Amino acid sequence: MVFEFKNEKICVTQNAFGYFAVQDKCPHNGASLSKGFCSKNNEIICPLHRYAFDLKSGKATSGGAFALKTYPIEIKNTGVFIGIKAKWWEA
Ligand code: FES
Repeated sequence: MVFEFKNEKICVTQNAFGYFAVQDKCPHNGASLSKGFCSKNNEIICPLHRYAFDLKSGKATSGGAFALKTYPIEIKNTGVFIGIKAKWWEA
């Protein structure tokens, strides 16, 4: 699924390795990664050109030297919490 917070779209996914939060916009050509799928190697696969990104590190595992922004994620009884750095001018 995708969440938007302060103009940042964040793709949140769950697989056998856990929960992960990464930027939703593919760095290759802007497709929504939340419309892609996960591989058994803990990658998210872009739905448009099938580039693959490691969900933990964000690094591309196929398709070029791109990387995703990753966010820390924590699941609690009270909800799903995603760490987003505040910009210094917003503090
Ligand atoms: S837009 Fe994602 S791989 Fe091209």
